Amino acid sequence: MKKIAVLTSGGDAPGMNAAVRAVVRSSQYFGCEVLGVNFGYRGLIEGDFKPMGHLDVSGIIQRGGTILKSARSEKFREKEGRAIAAQNLRNEGVDALVAIGGDGTFRGGTLLSQEQGINVVGVPGTIDNDLIGTDETIGYDTALNTAMEAIDKIRDTADAHERLFLVEVMGRDAGFIALETGIACGAELIILPEALKNIKDIKQSLRDILKEKSRSTLVVVSEGDETGGAIKLSSELEEDFGKYDMRVCILGHVQRGGSPTAHDRVLASRLGYEAVHAIHNGMSEVMVGVISNEVKITPIAETFGIIKKINFELYELAKILR
Ligand code: F6P
Repeated sequence: MKKIAVLTSGGDAPGMNAAVRAVVRSSQYFGCEVLGVNFGYRGLIEGDFKPMGHLDVSGIIQRGGTILKSARSEKFREKEGRAIAAQNLRNEGVDALVAIGGDGTFRGGTLLSQEQGINVVGVPGTIDNDLIGTDETIGYDTALNTAMEAIDKIRDTADAHERLFLVEVMGRDAGFIALETGIACGAELIILPEALKNIKDIKQSLRDILKEKSRSTLVVVSEGDETGGAIKLSSELEEDFGKYDMRVCILGHVQRGGSPTAHDRVLASRLGYEAVHAIHNGMSEVMVGVISNEVKITPIAETFGIIKKINFELYELAKILR
C-alpha cells in the first residue's frame, strides 16, 4: 500500500479543493493512504500533517480557497528547510507528494526531488495560467469569469459618465487573464507584459481609440505590464489625456476567490485523479496537465522557467473587434 501526501502551495486558486478531493478519493480507489499537509511547504517543514479520508473531502468541490490552507515558505527556499521537509515525509513513510500550485510550488518541488529524492507530482493550480504542459491551470477559468463580471459592472458606470477606465487584473508576469477578460468584456485596449510594452505606443493606441466616438473607454491592464500597473500608468497618461474623466480600478484578490466554475471543477477532478494514477503507475517528478483535451504528462522541471506564450491571434482579434 502506497502513502501519498498532498499539499496546496503559493497563491490559492479556485478549484484547489476539487483537486484535493480528487487526490483523496482516487487514492482510495487505488488502495493508497493519504496524508494532508497544512500550509503547503511550511507545513511540510513543521510536520503539520493529518490523515485524510472520504468524508474529509465531502462538500468541498464547490468551495473556493483551500481546506489545506496555503503559504509561501521562506524556509523551504533554503536547502536545510527542504532537508527537514524530506525527513518529515520519510518519517511518515510517504512514497510520493502531490503538490498543487503554480511555478513557485513546482520550482520548490523540483528541488525537493533532485536534492532529497522525494517523488513530487505536480497538479497545476494557479489563476495566472503561466505553466507549460497544460492548456489551462486550475483556477484560471474562474478568475476570468470573476474579472469579467466585475468589469461588466465597471462598464455600466463608465458608460453612464462616459469615462475612461483603467482596470488592472492579476496574472503576475503573464497576460493571460488580461487578454481573455479584455476580449470577453469588449475592452477598447488591452495592455499586456507580452505586447504593447512602452508608454509611447500605449499613448498612440489610446489617441487612436479616443478619436472614435464611444460611450466609454475601457483599458484592461495586466499587473505585470512593464509600465508598472494601472496606477502608475494613469499618472503617466494624466499629462496627455487629462481632459478625459479617467478612473482606475484594481480588481486584486477578488479574482482569487469564489466558487470554482464547472470547467475548473472538472479540470481539477481530472488532474487530481491523473496525479494519483501517475504515482500508481510508478511515475515520478512529473506534472499532469491537459492539452487539447488529452491528458499530458510533463517532467515537472520543464513546466516553469520558460515563458508560456499568449495567443497573439486573440490579441489581434481584440484590436479588430474593439
Ligand atoms: O500567482 C497568483 C497571484 O494571485 C498573482 O496573480 C499575483 O501577482 C500574486 O499571486 C499575489 O500574491 P499575494 O497573494 O501573495 O499578494
